Amino acid sequence: MKGAAIILAAGRGTRMKSRLAKVLHPLAGVPMLSHVITLVRSLQFEHSLLIVGHQADSVSALAKEMGLMPLLQDPPLGTGDAVRKAEEVLRGFQGPVLILNGDTPLLREETIRHFYACYQEEKATVGLLTVRLEYPKGYGRVVRKQSGEISRIVEEKDATPEERLINEVNTGVYLCDAAFLFEALSKVRSDNKQNEYYLTDIIGIAVSQGEHLVGVEASCEEVIGVNSRANLAAVEELMRKRINRRWMDEGVTMIDPSRVRIGAAVEIGADTVLYPGVSLEGETVIGSGVQIYAGRIRDSKVGDNVIIKDHCVIENAGVESGATIGPFAHLRPGSLVRKEAKVGNFVEMKKAELGEGSKASHLSYLGDATIGRGVNIGAGTITCNYDGLKKGQTIIKDGVFIGSDTQLVAPVTVGEGALIAAGTTVTKDVPSDALALSRTKQENRLEWAKKRRARQQKGVN
Ligand code: UD1
Ligand code: CA
Repeated sequence: MKGAAIILAAGRGTRMKSRLAKVLHPLAGVPMLSHVITLVRSLQFEHSLLIVGHQADSVSALAKEMGLMPLLQDPPLGTGDAVRKAEEVLRGFQGPVLILNGDTPLLREETIRHFYACYQEEKATVGLLTVRLEYPKGYGRVVRKQSGEISRIVEEKDATPEERLINEVNTGVYLCDAAFLFEALSKVRSDNKQNEYYLTDIIGIAVSQGEHLVGVEASCEEVIGVNSRANLAAVEELMRKRINRRWMDEGVTMIDPSRVRIGAAVEIGADTVLYPGVSLEGETVIGSGVQIYAGRIRDSKVGDNVIIKDHCVIENAGVESGATIGPFAHLRPGSLVRKEAKVGNFVEMKKAELGEGSKASHLSYLGDATIGRGVNIGAGTITCNYDGLKKGQTIIKDGVFIGSDTQLVAPVTVGEGALIAAGTTVTKDVPSDALALSRTKQENRLEWAKKRRARQQKGVN
């Protein structure tokens, strides 16, 4: 689109009472600011700039990663001062400049496109996106003349009690002719309650110069500015609804969408069913026809038709199609569950691969292990992968049967088709097709228990 965009993100965000810069607080799992950057990028302006200040290094890093040019404002002397930092880059630029705040993450592309179209059609010098709010508290109020035309914006802190009753507010989104913008900003003073250079003053300046001004109204939910933790929670909820709605439109079933959380970067296939209490985070990709019950999945890839039963935690792991996981399974980073395999309750995996069709159904720890196809891992099997100094690998080849309560002291390899008797401590490699057995022989002392009871009854031990 013809024009330039400036996102303001240099402020301290004091009302958040946080060590983290406000615009970096996560929303649907990604920094709040990245939602605004994504919007700006989709508009494809000739210049896309971001004003940074507070925690400039981390905010700039995000900007660069997402293809925006950061410009430093230090110290932050107000939104008007912030925009002036773009003057250098935009010198000589002719055309509209879109300005928006880094703390309004719900703004939609359609809204900005509509605003831009109205501004162009009206051939206006300044465009202001406004909204009517039931509770306008905290926002700059749009003061109109008797005739109904916009006359200026007054910040809440500077407003009279009557002005505070106005419920039409400034969303912080503007379109301005570049030449007018920087000319007007040079006239802005900081003689207000906050001793800041307010960007909002350019509205009054435009009116006094007789410039053509257009006000466009937006819907109230998408222009919420995040100034406090309560705003953050409100925006998170709206964002969650929006994301869930999108996936339902794509064919995903949610039994109770109010209890499903899906990160902004997650992908989900059609006919997948998400039960209440599911949280999908980070770069997770879920296939189609998957059933997922309450639990958390982060940065993981889940194939088609997988069933993930209740209360599993899956991080940086892969689950191939047709596999079954849980309930109560923990797949830690580097776990890979191959096709049709089964990981049952209280099984923990770490840097371990469970081959196609293999089963680890109960109470196991599988760490630093490569397990082949068609393997049965009996209940209570433990890979002893750590000797206190270093980690060792356990390799279990195809078709192995591991009896319950086996310990595999790594590094160790169990050959194809071998059988490990229950209760064995495997300390050396097991050849293919062999039986490994390590137990002390059982002794049965006949009548022993009965005699002991008799002694107890007589009061003798
Ligand atoms: C601002 C508007 C207000 C509007 C509201 C909409 C001004 C003076 N007020 O108020 O009319 O209703 O947004 O959400 O503009 N920032 C800088 N440098 C600074 C100060 C702020 O880059 O020196 C950035 C902040 O990081 C933030 C944005 O500008 O992303 C808005 O600042 P904030 O302090 O939140 O302004 P509001 O009080 O919300
Ligand atoms: Ca704000």
